[in-house]
Amino acid sequence: MKVVHTVTGMRALRHDATAQGLTVGFVPTMGALHAGHLSLVREARRRAQLVVVSIFVNPLQFGPNEDYGQYPRTLEKDCALLEPAGADVVFAPSSEEMYPKGATTIVDVEDLGMKLDGGSRPGHFRGVATVVSKLFHIVQPTWAVFGQKDAAQVAVLRRMVHDLNMDLELVVAPIARESDGLALSSRNAYLSVAERRQALVLHRALMAVEQLAATGETRAGQLRQCALQVLATEPAAKLDYLEIVDPDTLDAVAETLHGALVAVAAWFGPTRLIDNLLLPVR
Ligand code: PAF
Repeated sequence: MKVVHTVTGMRALRHDATAQGLTVGFVPTMGALHAGHLSLVREARRRAQLVVVSIFVNPLQFGPNEDYGQYPRTLEKDCALLEPAGADVVFAPSSEEMYPKGATTIVDVEDLGMKLDGGSRPGHFRGVATVVSKLFHIVQPTWAVFGQKDAAQVAVLRRMVHDLNMDLELVVAPIARESDGLALSSRNAYLSVAERRQALVLHRALMAVEQLAATGETRAGQLRQCALQVLATEPAAKLDYLEIVDPDTLDAVAETLHGALVAVAAWFGPTRLIDNLLLPVR
């Protein structure tokens, strides 16, 4: 496995891959890797002849009072996990390499970028779209693999790829969970033992919605009420949002007959966690 830190180095590897006619699978990450990331790498491995993983804590997607400084940076440990998972190349640029002095161009997926996490974290998706767009230009993947856990990010990036005619396919892999249901996240490392236990309420709420939907309930208001009741059983959880939306437009739906995304975000102490459930078309 090769580790490259410069755009020039990454481009040279991409040119070699093109010369050899190789397909490229790409998994963008911010490092602090867990089994969820590794499942994305394995998905890329299944599809592509060359697998590239980027590790870059992107300053542009953090708000001024968010955890950019605190975000775990564990490159050596990440590389040790990536090699057996099937990565061929790790692209780990510095902040100066990605945003050299004078860089001012941003990518803004208007409207969609203001919904769900975009509403709670102003500017977040502008940062995500900008860095992912740059990474796509540098790596030029055939497939780029993202996790369903960041459902709003998936919607924003799908829109971006479509609107900017990017020549690649987005692949979305299912949410990886701990055995007790907690969705895997690098931010779980921030949780105290008590907060981790409290955070299980997110999964319980989504499971309750899934069960109610399985009985034939399609009214979003009823399904939302059911989730809110479960969330209320854990007073330590400070709800940020609970929405039932169209997975592509992120607009609220009244009915879930045509499929819907149930998305939740809540604070447990200083840590904000997200989770979601895709209700199938009935
Ligand atoms: O999902 C993430 O880890 C980040 O938002 C991404 C896609 C790597 C962009 O920085």
